[in-house]
Amino acid sequence: MSNCFVRQCKSPSMTNLSYPEKPVRQLSEAEARNELGELAIRLARADYDYHTRGEPDLEDAEYDRLKQRNRDIEAAWPRLKRPDSPSDRVGAPGSGAFAKVVHRVRMLSLDNAFTEEDVRNFDSRVRSHLGLADAQPLTYLAEPKIDGLSLSLRYEACALVQAATRGDGEVGEDVTANALMIADIPATLPESAPQLLEVRGEVYMSHEDFEELNARQQARGEKTFANPRNAAAGSLRQLDARITASRPLRFFAYALGEVSEQLADSQSRAVRELRSHGFAVNDLNRTCMGADGMIERYREIELRRGELGYDIDGVVYKVDDLALQSRLGARSTTPRWATAHKLPSETAFTRIRDIEIQVGRTGALSPVARLEPVTVGGVRVSNATLHNEDYIKGRSGDGGLIREGRDIRVGDRVEVYRAGDVIPKVLDVDISARPEKSAPYAFPETCPECDSPAVREEGDSVTRCTGGMGCPAQAVERLKHFVSRGAFDIEGLGAKQVEQFYEWGWIEEPADIFELEKGRGNELADKFGWREKSAANLFAAIQVRKRIAFQRLIFALGIRHVGESASALLAGHYGKFESLVASIDAMESMEGEKWDELTGIDGIGDVMARSVLEAFRGESRRALDRLVSVLDEVVDAERPDVASSPFAGKTVVFTGTLERMTRKEAKTRAEAAGARVSGSVSVRTDLVVAGAGAGSKARKAATLGVEIIDEDEWLARIDSGN
Ligand code: IVH
Repeated sequence: MSNCFVRQCKSPSMTNLSYPEKPVRQLSEAEARNELGELAIRLARADYDYHTRGEPDLEDAEYDRLKQRNRDIEAAWPRLKRPDSPSDRVGAPGSGAFAKVVHRVRMLSLDNAFTEEDVRNFDSRVRSHLGLADAQPLTYLAEPKIDGLSLSLRYEACALVQAATRGDGEVGEDVTANALMIADIPATLPESAPQLLEVRGEVYMSHEDFEELNARQQARGEKTFANPRNAAAGSLRQLDARITASRPLRFFAYALGEVSEQLADSQSRAVRELRSHGFAVNDLNRTCMGADGMIERYREIELRRGELGYDIDGVVYKVDDLALQSRLGARSTTPRWATAHKLPSETAFTRIRDIEIQVGRTGALSPVARLEPVTVGGVRVSNATLHNEDYIKGRSGDGGLIREGRDIRVGDRVEVYRAGDVIPKVLDVDISARPEKSAPYAFPETCPECDSPAVREEGDSVTRCTGGMGCPAQAVERLKHFVSRGAFDIEGLGAKQVEQFYEWGWIEEPADIFELEKGRGNELADKFGWREKSAANLFAAIQVRKRIAFQRLIFALGIRHVGESASALLAGHYGKFESLVASIDAMESMEGEKWDELTGIDGIGDVMARSVLEAFRGESRRALDRLVSVLDEVVDAERPDVASSPFAGKTVVFTGTLERMTRKEAKTRAEAAGARVSGSVSVRTDLVVAGAGAGSKARKAATLGVEIIDEDEWLARIDSGN
């Protein structure tokens, strides 16, 4: 199959859009303007090939001739000199700044609609301009408004010759070298593409990639980003394109700029054509009828906002018919044929009233900002996490900066972020609004709940209470964890009831729960909020759980570093609870056969193994023995029949948003079937399970020829053991 890139290589003149070599004096003003535009692009591309790519495509003599012609035309028409004139340019990116690019077709922005009434007014304005009655059908295309930064990609003779940021809409910056590093942006197009095609769209970063990037940056002591949009912008505007290459950027195409021929007669078909040319196009784009249709689509998209895996800040409505679009035209900076219906903002500013410390079940001291209530993402928020001591200080453990070093204080005006189900967090501080007498926050040196010393081990970002079982906060949190979903999951015994029972002195450790009926059976029904029936139901639910799966028991103990997957691994390996206990009891130190057996389990490292050992010693062992003595049975784990499992020894990667299971569940089940679950795709990957919005990992897998299946297929295979 021939493709344009091959054709382009054969013909280094790069573009078929040749311009007449008329003597400069004979050019009309329009011709001169046009030729200066073409020269700007052609010379910018040549500079990039020479300086950045290191592979010049243009002969030196030809380059000099074009540059001279550019100067000659500029001398004859000084008014037409472009802001991105090649005459003013020394070299290309790499020379310290981005070259400027004049957009041949202006990059417009969008008018906003905030309410349903605004949307109806938009529809009425469109109709009145076109002379359409309210009852006449009018189709719009509704698209999510991606919260990233817009980019214009110019393809000539099917090759990407220039990528430019929006800038002020008239003049942007040349980021061609960087755009070529983004997997969603094709470097070449199929031959069927028009000779000249400018594709516009949004560069963005997924939530998952953003979190990973920030963790990586922090680990290296480098700058972290406040949100995915800043991360995308910072990653695209890198003078060294190799840095862009290392950042997980994505691109959705949604519009056209200058084109030599229209792709279709409607916006929806044009965008579909773009998909067939190799661009990523958003799956949620839908046509809809009139104002009611737009509003209905807005509500649907709003409901799915939290599960998309990337930020959107609105829904864009565009008149679908391109002929109608051109009849409607544009105002100075916005088209009449489109509007952006804003979704509630996911960040907001408010003040910190206080900083409080919560103590978790492992003793971790977590700072929480108590806020003046504010609406974020449509929800009232009055608390936000501050993560840990370093986060408050604005410094990461290894000397890097968070928020450029701005610390967080009580009284500060802060920017709060909340998206989907995430716990609200404090993103940034408005230092200019800091009260005069504020002081840096002093992280406590003792546990606020039990006064035991709070210590921070070297290399750890978390400060911990050393009170152990004696700390009431730790005790309550452990009990809450013990009854939670993946653990004993006792119906009717949630966090609220645990707190009550603890306060009344009825339960202090897990075994007490199973002796509750014996000791307090008659009292509960008389307590406020309880009746005979609800008390009886609770005792019945507790009774049911006296028979518990080995893996749930381990998870319920709340051993540090041991989550559901590690619990499943331990249970799967030892099979019987007694075998695990016997094996640990036979360990005298952290060496020898039994220790090697424990740390030899794939997925159990030294740190985890040490925690497991600690949980089976001293005070926690006493509590565990007592618990086991009040249970009826710890049910043996089914050892994965690793030899016959089709997933035995296979490396599986999950990517994108899974809809029918959590990541945790997927991992646990895969591991129980003998698979290894990895976070990144490599030549050693056997299978990729791609959920909604899967991006770079799935693409990498496709490049490496790794099998990719969707979530349904995965579930079908794991259920049938194939
Ligand atoms: S269309 C003439 N469609 O929103 C129409 N823009 O406020 C030009 N954006 O600068 C834009 N998603 O960066 C369009 N589906 C979408 C979009 C979108 C995000 C951004 C774009 C633009 C800004 C306008």
